[in-house]
Amino acid sequence: MACQLLNGKKGIIFGALDSKSIAWKIAERAYEQGAAFTLSNTPVALRFGEINLLSEKCHAEIIPADATSVSDLEHVFSRTMEIFGGKIDFVLHSIGMSMNVRKGREYDDLDYDYFLKTIDVSAVSFHKMLQVAKKMDAINEWGSILALTYIAAQRTLVGYNDMADAKSLLESIARSFGYIYGREKNVRINTISQSPTRTTAGGAIKGMEGLIDFTDRMSPLGNATADECADFSVVLFSDLSRKVTMQNIYHDGGFSSMAMSLKAMTQYNKSLDEDS
Ligand SMILES: NC(=O)c1ccc[n+]([C@@H]2O[C@H](COP(=O)([O-])OP(=O)(O)OC[C@H]3O[C@@H](n4cnc5c(N)ncnc54)[C@H](O)[C@@H]3O)[C@@H](O)[C@H]2O)c1
Repeated sequence: MACQLLNGKKGIIFGALDSKSIAWKIAERAYEQGAAFTLSNTPVALRFGEINLLSEKCHAEIIPADATSVSDLEHVFSRTMEIFGGKIDFVLHSIGMSMNVRKGREYDDLDYDYFLKTIDVSAVSFHKMLQVAKKMDAINEWGSILALTYIAAQRTLVGYNDMADAKSLLESIARSFGYIYGREKNVRINTISQSPTRTTAGGAIKGMEGLIDFTDRMSPLGNATADECADFSVVLFSDLSRKVTMQNIYHDGGFSSMAMSLKAMTQYNKSLDEDS
């Protein structure tokens, strides 16, 4: 793409694990659009080694951090500011994990230690990130902070489990902190509610393939891909969206406004015919 929407912008991208990760695609697109950034993920994720490819491609230093650790986050922000010689312009939170999902614990049989971990990793980490950034005065005026979320925060979807609760909290944090950060520093905070996408985290959700097919049939524009999410994220990081804050924005081909589509009805009727 010829335009340089993020020319001169500097940031931090949390959560690129492998080339399927939504954060990976966002990093590639942000780099193409002129941004410079650091990458962060857990020491365990970094041991997989794939992120080194992204780091080389985007000339981005990798800073290990567990996003539930305030001191790790302080290090990520201070090192990033050191690299870029001052404040930054954007942050991506693309982090989610549920041990209940991983271990197959159903929502009416949750392990509560796992549940608290889900909330800490997938939602409270966003608050920690924002609080660290604000206390360090790390973000330039009109800077943009984004987190990725899912419609299970508003509607019940079978199999999404305790991640639905984590996403509700994540979206609420974006609003509550967005007010304060906007009022005091003109910094913007939004969440993107993305279509189901084939990634490592996405693959852990029960019935993911059926869900992807269903939402694709239900959405007038079809599911949004990770690459399309990257395009949209770049717009939200850019100065073209300066007055957008405290929003949860659906990036889902229209799924969130649908109740029944012709394509989904046709498929449903076919299965009824087979049953009879
Ligand atoms: N895949 C989907 O269908 C989908 C849909 C909507 C929203 N999302 C959201 O997008 C975000 C990115 O997920 P993805 O689908 O790209 O999967 P992914 O598995 O590629 O990314 C999840 C990332 O979270 C990181 N992570 C886990 N625990 C962490 C911790 N303690 N500290 C720091 N990082 C940690 C992982 O290492 C990984 O990089 C998540 O918030 C996810 O819920 C995904």
